[in-house]
Amino acid sequence: MNDVPLILRVKFVVPIGISLLLAGCVPGGRSELEEPASVQTMETAAGTGSEPYRWRLPAGFPMPLLPSGNSMNAAKVELGRHLFYDRRLSGNETFSCASCHRQKYAFSDGRVVAEGSTGEKHPRNAMSLTNVAYNRAFAWADPKLSSLEDQALVPMLNEHPVELGLAGRKREILERLAADPEYRTLFSQAFPVPRSIRFEHVVRAIAAFERTLLSGNSAYDRRVFFDEKDALSLSAERGMELFFSQRTRCAECHSGFNFSGTVVFRGGEKLPIEFHNTGLFDLDGEGAYPEPNRGLFEHTRRPEDMGRFKAPTLRNIELTAPYLHDGSATTLEEVIETYAAGGREPGRGNHYKSPLVTGFEISESEIRDLVEFLKSLTDRSFITDARFSDPLQAE
Ligand code: HEC
Ligand code: HEC
Repeated sequence: MNDVPLILRVKFVVPIGISLLLAGCVPGGRSELEEPASVQTMETAAGTGSEPYRWRLPAGFPMPLLPSGNSMNAAKVELGRHLFYDRRLSGNETFSCASCHRQKYAFSDGRVVAEGSTGEKHPRNAMSLTNVAYNRAFAWADPKLSSLEDQALVPMLNEHPVELGLAGRKREILERLAADPEYRTLFSQAFPVPRSIRFEHVVRAIAAFERTLLSGNSAYDRRVFFDEKDALSLSAERGMELFFSQRTRCAECHSGFNFSGTVVFRGGEKLPIEFHNTGLFDLDGEGAYPEPNRGLFEHTRRPEDMGRFKAPTLRNIELTAPYLHDGSATTLEEVIETYAAGGREPGRGNHYKSPLVTGFEISESEIRDLVEFLKSLTDRSFITDARFSDPLQAE
């Protein structure tokens, strides 16, 4: 590795979180790792090399918490945006992150389950990237994925199923990028020291871009934060009451400014992430969910974790159908009817089901109201914002 020209040198310097993940996931966990201390030094240098990133936080949103070792700067975000949309970031150059996370669907993909660059189906539905800067954990039910940097490695290196298909090809990918003069400029602006394109720079830049994907400009926000009395229809107003009511209990799991489970932010308390079984399956009368979608159980193997998933954000939910971890609900009406019935048959009898999912009475017109409210969480500016779009198509 030492005789590679500086610009192409591939050393793998990663923060501890990522290195632990890699040690577990990369076959043979080779010794591409350097001690993490040097990362901090380089970051400080990089931080001074570019314009600071100027946050435009939506009203009521706290400041995101940044991991040590990946400060924000404008050049890094721009580089991350290019990489997010770049198909050279897949083994066969057909796929990018954006293939499964499309802006018009609030960065989900519109499919029941995702499909990777080699056509392999993912067992789960592609998630929206709305406000991922605040997530406490990533994916439908993975307690170990606690940073965007760690998460980005999953679609890159995953082999079961193949998503971007980069396993064993990091060097090739870096060479592809280094061959492009525009990337050489972008990388040197984003990471002035050291002057080489490194895999962890790719990961950090993408994570920095993802942190900018903030969405808080919906009719609901205009109603609540800007006191626009008419922002919500009467139906949506009634739906809002239902959503926050003791009857439906929706807000007990989809809570706070992000209408989601546990969030993290600067100055906030670091609370544990919660996972819930909402009574969707019971294959054997013992509570079983179908493999490999058994939720938290896949990671802990504890029986009580069977079927427990993260409560995702409901912001932009209108744009991210189909729904649930397996994409098995087509419409919002269907999701609400399932909650009203206390789960699906026979999953509603699952003895690991959350005590918050007991079922409730709801009329047809109330279902319409609740759907209207959920639609009031749609932020059209998020899906048209040029800062989040494909840089090559925007120019
Ligand atoms: C093949 C389609 C596909 C590709 C390509 C893909 N993703 Fe995903 N993404 C998914 C799926 C499916 C999930 C849910 C994963 C799970 O639950 O195991 C997901 C989840 C995520 C999440 C978690 C969101 C949350 O709220 O927890 C983030 C962040 C993310 N992807 C970012 C990326 C980035 C960055 C890239 C490119 C490096 C990428 N994805 C490439 C399909 C894809
Ligand atoms: C016990 C906690 C809990 C309660 C109460 C709850 N949810 Fe959920 N919600 C979840 C979890 C967990 C998921 C993911 C479940 C899965 O995919 O298996 C989810 C998923 C959803 C989804 C699909 C999200 C997506 O991205 O696909 C919608 C929509 C939704 N909930 C709306 C509601 C509404 C409306 C209510 C009130 C009627 C409600 N939830 C009550 C925990 C809860």
